[in-house]
Amino acid sequence: MQNFIYALIQVIHNFGAVTVVAAAASALWLSRGGLGLLRDGELMRSNAVVQSRLAWLMAIAWAIQAASGIMFGLTTFWFEGHLPDIHGIAVDALLIKIFCALTGFILAVSYVKLHSGWPTKKQLLVWQTSSALGVVALSSAAFLRWFS
Ligand code: HEM
Repeated sequence: MQNFIYALIQVIHNFGAVTVVAAAASALWLSRGGLGLLRDGELMRSNAVVQSRLAWLMAIAWAIQAASGIMFGLTTFWFEGHLPDIHGIAVDALLIKIFCALTGFILAVSYVKLHSGWPTKKQLLVWQTSSALGVVALSSAAFLRWFS
């Protein structure tokens, strides 16, 4: 039963990871003009709408990553009476993932609320940072997995 619950949480966590990285990469691509459509006013506006939706999706996915990550720990605690026994590099990797999830969530929510007043350069910086956070978090997951 414990393994079954871990597996279910892992399914959510894996799809969350894909969503975070794919949404950030897509928004970055769109903010750079997508298929070179920035010259067309109509398409530029629809690009902006899609980017805003992607920011929503990213905020939800970062939150899901944090919640499902916590669920891993709670499941161990429920079945074994203690939190997962990890040390050294695994703890560092986990802290990096927590930092990425928190920063990514704050960036995505800030984008949703405030982006209309932001210059294009600032919006681009948000997507570049979000993409980097996704890549770093996904890479840290490998170290957490194999050093724990
Ligand atoms: C608060 C944030 C997070 C927490 C607490 C957390 C926690 C965890 C835990 C406990 C595991 C299981 C480790 C193991 O198998 O030994 C895991 C696996 C994983 N996490 Fe996270 N995570 C967080 C954020 C993220 C983020 C932001 C991503 C990617 C964008 C991510 C991607 C993954 C992946 C791909 C795995 C599977 C690794 C594997 O088994 O090969 N996690 N996470």
